[in-house]
This record gives sequence, structure tokens and C-alpha cells, in this order.
Amino acid sequence: MSVWRVKPGGRLAGTVQVPGDKSVSHRAVLIGALADGVTAVRNLLWGEDVRATVNAVRALGVTVDESGGEVRVHGRGLHSLRAPENPIDCGNAGTAMRLLAGVLAAQPFASELRGDASLSARPMERVAAPLREMGAAISTAPGGVPPLTIGAAHGPLRGMRHDLKVASAQVKSALLLAGLYADGSTTIDEPAVTRNHTELMLHGFGAGISWGNRMVTINPGASLRPGTVTVPNDISAAAFFIVGAAISAGSSLTINAVGMNDTRNAIVNIMRKMGAGITETNNALGAATGSTMESTADLTVHGGALKGVPVNGEQVTIAMDEVPAIAVAAAAAKGRTIITNAAELRVKESDRIATVVAGLKAIGVAVEEHPDGMTITGVDAAGGGRFNGGTVHSGGDHRIAMAFAMAAPAAAGEITVTDCGNVATSFPGFAAAARAAGLRIDERA
Ligand code: S3P
Repeated sequence: MSVWRVKPGGRLAGTVQVPGDKSVSHRAVLIGALADGVTAVRNLLWGEDVRATVNAVRALGVTVDESGGEVRVHGRGLHSLRAPENPIDCGNAGTAMRLLAGVLAAQPFASELRGDASLSARPMERVAAPLREMGAAISTAPGGVPPLTIGAAHGPLRGMRHDLKVASAQVKSALLLAGLYADGSTTIDEPAVTRNHTELMLHGFGAGISWGNRMVTINPGASLRPGTVTVPNDISAAAFFIVGAAISAGSSLTINAVGMNDTRNAIVNIMRKMGAGITETNNALGAATGSTMESTADLTVHGGALKGVPVNGEQVTIAMDEVPAIAVAAAAAKGRTIITNAAELRVKESDRIATVVAGLKAIGVAVEEHPDGMTITGVDAAGGGRFNGGTVHSGGDHRIAMAFAMAAPAAAGEITVTDCGNVATSFPGFAAAARAAGLRIDERA
């Protein structure tokens, strides 16, 4: 069980390389697998989560190989996947399980999707129920959790309109992928804006899709053209470095080619509202990322004074994965940060409201837990305030581990973070990258 010990103080400087975007990587593999021919993917995130998707499409008969720094997905087209011989193991990856559910629900063969202990406790009826309405034979285990058992589809799914209750890009994406196999158009009405990588990539691959104003419609019929994909660097991985640099005076850190899709970049807006100095250069629209249609920019973050702000509404839905990092910034800021509208955090890789609150308490930060968020009173690091060192339990959750490692620059003592192995799901090599940037982090097995 990997443990990090991070010495207090220090600042972050230079340029850091963060890995390819996890959400875009899953989609590149899965949509590439459904295209008519070879999709070349550059900068794929080779983390455990995306490996689960790669292994899944391999189990469905798709060849995935590497050549000259590119991953090549040999798509079999929409209608030639093979029945898997065994249950498909999605590991820790909710995105893999939910997106695959949408594809598998439409296949003329049966399948089963399983996960690790954390994934096996996460809600799956949110995706199974609307797929069932489309005619899929899909069931969850008692409590609405994995494994997902999926029967063979006898004929096309029913195209229909879904009014989603939960704002979830994974559910939306599953229904869009299922919609490729429906007998008519599928429309999804979302309660709030969620990441639109699936819409952009399906459009880039030639699917009949249109979207706007929280509504998306997919029309079946078109086959998918294989694409050339360059995965942008992951803004959710960059978030830890943005926060680490922002809370330590004298830091100046650049993170290159970060995905700046506006359904993902609320972390930058929130940190700017807190007073962080973040500059964007080399802004590039879709062209740089090929068929992903994603935009990117180089971000440079300067450490300095931060103030507490309300973190609420649509910005929270968009920055949901970044809330653990934002909480660390709030702990170093001057004044109170009230985070609301974040109840979804309770059903992530850990109950992230509980794990963040416990972690902040462990290092002496004043924090109050709410059903849908928390109130944090910061120590004003720029004014010389410090929180304590201490031991933070990550709960096996990659984002909790990385967020608390980045608290060290504003701590008075060493921070120990336990159970960091799952960082390999989204950011293999995080500790080495953080050390190279100036974080005083040591890793023990
Ligand atoms: C993701 C969607 C979000 C996000 C997750 C990745 C995706 O989950 O938290 O890390 O790639 O579609 P929900 O769909 O559960 O909101």
C-alpha cells in the first residue's frame, strides 16, 4: 500500500507534464473501436482506468496496438463486435463501466460488467434504468450496484427522449452510444451542463449528432469514420498543480496543452475568483486535437494571496472532480469558502465530501460538513498562516491523495497520505512529476 510523505513548504516552478485526459482517452478507445477502420490516438492516458477500457474492447474482438508513440485502435464498425468470453473487469473505472453499458446493451450477445470494491458500491441504476426504457435487458445487483448483467438485444433499441434526473456525463454518454443502435433518434435533456466530450468526438467521427442548451440528439444510421486523435492534457490532473502553485508564494508553474473545453475548465474560473494568477497562452481550437474537436491552452500559475469565495451552481457540476483540490486551495485562502451543489461527490471513488472533510480535519483546518458540500475557513497562507501536518487517509481515492499531497506547501509540518496506489488509475508518475516541479514528496511502497 503506497504511502506519501510530503515535507512542508517549498514552491512549484518550471514546466510540468500532466497525462492525457482520462475522459477523452476512454472515449477515443471506445468510439475508435466502433469506427470502420484504424483510429490513431496520440497522448492516450495509459492509466489503469483507460487500460480497463482497452482490455474491454480487446475482449470484444478489437485489436489495440502501439506503434511510433501512437495507440492504434482497429475499429470493427458498429455491428461486428464479438461476444466476450468472460465477464469484463472495469476495475476502479466508473466511466468504463457506464459507457460500455451503453454499447453492450445494444449488442446481439450477452455480457457482464464487473468492478473493484469501490466501483462495486457505486450507483448503476442511473444508467441501467434509461437503457431498459430503450428496450435493453440489463440488470444490476441488489442495491442497484455492479455487476451489470446484460442480455442479448433482439433487434434495435428504441429511440426515445430521456429527461435525466442526475447530471452525469457518463449516463448521457451511455445513452448516446446506445442511440447509435436505436430505431430512431434519441434525445437527452440534462438537468445541468456536463462534459461534452462524447458529443464532440462522435461529431468528429461523423455521427449524426447535434447539441446545445442542455439537450443532445443522436440520429442512428451513419457509420463512424476512423479519426486521428490527439488527447489534450488532463485539466483534472492539472488541477492539483494549479492549486499547489497557487497556494505557495513565489511559485510560477506552467502546464502545457491542457484541455480547456468550457464544460471542464471551471477549476480555472474558480481559482481566478479566489485570486489566483493564471495566464493562458497558445490557445488552440479543435484542430490541434484532431477528431476530438477539443481546445487546449498552456496555463501558467503564479502563487499568491487567495480569498475564500462561494463555490456553487453550474460551476460546481463542471468542476466536480476538482472539488478536493479546490478544498485544499480554500484551506490556504483567507476567509470562508462555502461549497454547495456537490452531493454527487458522495458517490465517486470515495464519499469525497466525507474524505475531504476528514482529511482537512486531520491537518487542523476548520471545516464543517454539509449534505451537499462543506464550509472551509482558510488559514491565509499568503499572510503567513499555516495548517498543521498530519496523516490523511485517501480512502484509496486517487483525487483525494493528490489533492492532499498538494496541501504541503501551506502546511507547518509533514503531511502523510495513505493508500495512494489508485493514483495509477488517472496519473501514473504523479509523485515523480510533483517532485520535479518542487513538491517535497517521498513515495514508499
Ligand atoms: C466522467 C464524468 C463524471 C466525472 C468522471 C468522468 C466522464 O462523472 O466525475 O470522473 O468521463 O464522463 P459523472 O458522469 O458520474 O458525473
